[in-house]
Amino acid sequence: MSLLAIDEGRCKKDGICAAECPMGIIQWKKGEFPAPAKQAPALCINCGHCVAVCPHAALAHEQLAPEDCLEVDKALALSPEQTEHFLRARRSIRTFKETPVEKDTLSEIIRLASFAPSGHNSQPVQWRVLSGRETVKEHTALVIDWMKLALKENPKFAKALHLDMLVAAWKFGMDVVTRSAPTLILAQGKENNPMAPQACTIAMTYLDLAAQSFGVGTCWCGYFLRAAATHGPLAERLGKDQGLKTYAVMMAGYPKFGYHRMPTRNTPGITWTGNI
Ligand SMILES: Cc1cc2nc3c(=O)[nH]c(=O)nc-3n(C[C@H](O)[C@H](O)[C@H](O)COP(=O)(O)O)c2cc1C
Repeated sequence: MSLLAIDEGRCKKDGICAAECPMGIIQWKKGEFPAPAKQAPALCINCGHCVAVCPHAALAHEQLAPEDCLEVDKALALSPEQTEHFLRARRSIRTFKETPVEKDTLSEIIRLASFAPSGHNSQPVQWRVLSGRETVKEHTALVIDWMKLALKENPKFAKALHLDMLVAAWKFGMDVVTRSAPTLILAQGKENNPMAPQACTIAMTYLDLAAQSFGVGTCWCGYFLRAAATHGPLAERLGKDQGLKTYAVMMAGYPKFGYHRMPTRNTPGITWTGNI
């Protein structure tokens, strides 16, 4: 099969696929069937736009037929009010039940996060799940080691980040780093891939939002991330030898408490340019 197969019985020669292809590799002239350009196989990013946009299901990509794609259900589209509620009701959760999140639920949340956009549709995110309080605690202890080191080597920076307080709390059995979460989810990418940091952040944001509908609470884990990036013993536990770097870390677990109100935020600062 060539890169694209056009069902000539269905195609209405409207050129929508050519207009929407992000790489501009579908040739089309009014009154003619579309066809892949010569360089199409080398340039195609497998994003599936051509298949998804055709109103007549007339185009199949060699990696993706129309019947492989879920149909868009307009009845399920969120209204602006539902979107506002969905986005504003999300809270960072820091007090978790001991019950771990089931593997199937985590897999489903991660599957949804994998629909996040990535540069050139390269999808470079590798997920790593640290499951169970003991496992999370072992890794968090390495974060505390990094904090102790930072307090010795660079006390001004360390105190500005309140690392002294976090270490003191740990000594008293309080985990303010990963909040005794039963699960940590890491988004990782190859160290030499310039697309990976952004892709991981965006995918983790998708995960943060997706988790809500499963009743799973989440909280970004900035201290853990910083330690994973700079502290050798932790980086090694997290796949450094396979060239993997951690770009986003999320606590996950069932929330102990529910939230009843949605706090306000600053009015966004916007610079408008042009006529509006
Ligand atoms: C990149 C990033 C790192 C964060 N790191 C931590 C962290 O280490 N510990 C923590 O308790 N919260 C952390 N947070 C959560 C923020 O404190 C939280 O998003 C903010 O207070 C707003 O609250 P909300 O998420 O409930 O809207 C982090 C958030 C982001 C985006």
